[in-house]
Amino acid sequence: MSAPATDPSRGVPSGRRQILVTSALPYANGQIHLGHLVEYIQTDIWARTLRMHGHEVYYVGADDTHGTPVMLRAEKEGITPKALIERVWQEHKRDFDHFGISFDNYYTTDSDENRVLAESVYGALKDAGLIDAREIEQAYDPVREMFLPDRFVKGECPKCGAKDQYGDSCEVCGAAYQPIDLVNPYSVVSGATPVRKASTHYFFRLSDPRCERFLREWVGGLAQPEAANKMREWLGDDGDAKLADWDISRDAPYFGFEIPGAPGKYFYVWLDAPVGYYASFKHLAAQRGIDFDAWVRKGSSAEQYHFIGKDILYFHTLFWPAMLEFSGYRTPTNVFAHGFLTVDGAKMSKSRGTFITAQSMIETGLNPEWLRYYFAARLNSTMEDLDLNFDDFQARVNSDLIGKYINIASRTAGFLFKRFDGRVQDSAMNHPLLVSLRAGIPQIAAFYEAREYNRALRLTMELADLVNVYIDHAKPWDQAKDAANAVALHETCSVSLEAFRLLTLALKPVLPALAKAVEGFLGIAPLQWADVSVPLNSAQPVNAYKHLMTRVEQKQIDALLAANRESLQSTAAPAAGAAPAKPASAAPGAPATPDTISIDDFAKVDLRIAKIVACRAVEGSDKLLQLTLDVGEEKTRNVFSGIKSAYQPEQLVGKLTVMVANLAPRKMKFGLSEGMVLAASAADEKTEPGLYVLEPDSGATPGMRVK
Ligand code: MSP
Ligand code: ZN
Repeated sequence: MSAPATDPSRGVPSGRRQILVTSALPYANGQIHLGHLVEYIQTDIWARTLRMHGHEVYYVGADDTHGTPVMLRAEKEGITPKALIERVWQEHKRDFDHFGISFDNYYTTDSDENRVLAESVYGALKDAGLIDAREIEQAYDPVREMFLPDRFVKGECPKCGAKDQYGDSCEVCGAAYQPIDLVNPYSVVSGATPVRKASTHYFFRLSDPRCERFLREWVGGLAQPEAANKMREWLGDDGDAKLADWDISRDAPYFGFEIPGAPGKYFYVWLDAPVGYYASFKHLAAQRGIDFDAWVRKGSSAEQYHFIGKDILYFHTLFWPAMLEFSGYRTPTNVFAHGFLTVDGAKMSKSRGTFITAQSMIETGLNPEWLRYYFAARLNSTMEDLDLNFDDFQARVNSDLIGKYINIASRTAGFLFKRFDGRVQDSAMNHPLLVSLRAGIPQIAAFYEAREYNRALRLTMELADLVNVYIDHAKPWDQAKDAANAVALHETCSVSLEAFRLLTLALKPVLPALAKAVEGFLGIAPLQWADVSVPLNSAQPVNAYKHLMTRVEQKQIDALLAANRESLQSTAAPAAGAAPAKPASAAPGAPATPDTISIDDFAKVDLRIAKIVACRAVEGSDKLLQLTLDVGEEKTRNVFSGIKSAYQPEQLVGKLTVMVANLAPRKMKFGLSEGMVLAASAADEKTEPGLYVLEPDSGATPGMRVK
């Protein structure tokens, strides 16, 4: 592992560092979705953090364009692969720009630079005796008459037996293998059972003792213990390496680079994809006059980091470093892997509308910085998965970002502008509150660099809390009522706005657009970490305050989910059991309620007698009661019901009622709701309030079916 100029983990880096940063290259056959954005936002925050120290940082990316999926997709659309990747590049670029991903260069792997670099890496590996040509048998689709790429054969993982795994690696146990190793394989292209067919392939000899020796040493520098452990597992015990040679060629028809001296053979997409990091950087270097070789050749003193998802760790911690090591390049300083995104506790799903594309976020007008903030608040330096929960999303944006941070400016800026000509009171700049805020900033910057974004934001919000306590105590709105308090009011507003500047600095890597707006409002130069000690001053008046950010509303979330729902469900979405008498909120475009239903439709609803064994108010909600229901099952059910306006909790305890027992459970801010109790109400609840929980005639017992 090439040593960084200074090791950030061992103290404060000194001097100006040279840092090359990448995110994994998204495939050019699909749209950018929220899962991708976890990675690009994570990388972007990190790149911005280091730029704000004044280091020489280049963040590069590209579309990963080669391979069979792109070829087949283009064929299906009746266009050339080049036309397809050009269109997708435009879409990806639009999405990344929208989310503020600050690539210094966003390129494509289908470039001349990449061809030249891939050929030279391959040539060097060949010269080092690390390339073998071998005849192998491979999965071949006899119907479609083509060799099947890894991802177009599915079957059971040969290592752990997991079903429906792709032919290159297992998403369950992380093993990498050849498609032909799968148990019970089938062709994704035609459904046919693949046959074995022989052809010559080229291999990178990862099993060579030189590779093993190198990788055993390189793993020692990995920042994440989980990643290092995985890698050691793959490497096996010392002297007993388990690494298999890596098949790096594919037969025509294939969209990619033809291998020099091997007509009809192409580089496997994963060979030229990581080289694409360098190709993108090379393109940038040519434009900006950067010495490309000095950065990437062996002995370079620059640092190089790759942010990736945990699913592609194998490629980035085995193949890529070994390719670099034996072709004369420097090796990565580190690889940072993150976990996978789930939405509301489940894998992203098209039918639930949670397979959320970047484009749909653009179209429904959600502020992209809300998502940046939310992801940052959930991200840490580990490979743990993270969940996007929409209730939590709303709460964090509305109560933290707006309630704690934005409100500091909105409550005090107007007074300063109107009463004091927009000029701060210079003597207020050393207020003890500001001294403690300034002391927190370096720690926040360090948390970002350590990829502990959740901790950076938690500390930032703790500081914001202090400022709000200060404002609540000083009460500028009261001070403003009496001209005798002018000096005190001036101090309150000056301290508050300087605090706002410092909090903006702390949030800038996460919220670059908002920070820019604040810089404009405060009339200051773009904030850097060093500006922590450059307070506002009376010579530079602040401008009129304009509202900086709005709150997230539930209807915006609803619109987002509706926009992503692939096929409309025939039954209305469950209303969470929260509002029993209200019809499920109709998604825009949902089919109108038909006048009649069949008995079969009715039979789908599992209505049961339930006994309310406990009932209590829900803290933080003025609508909900929390019911514990005995439905004759082993366990009681927890249900949140919007009936607080009509009942005291103790009135309901012991009552029997009717519940919908097969409603999909719904995760709410307060917990999981496992059904819905039935209650009657007037058509217009506003003019005619009143809710009436249903009760069965005496004799009914918990668990009885209502038909
Ligand atoms: N093309 C390869 C990477 C080549 S890098 C030389 C690839 N592309 S991808 O489009 O499938 O994924 C791009 C990145 O997004 C990967 O790091 C992947 O882990 C990440 N994510 C894709 N879906 C994700 C989630 N649902 N959650 C978090 N990250 C995910 O892999
Ligand atoms: Zn497996």
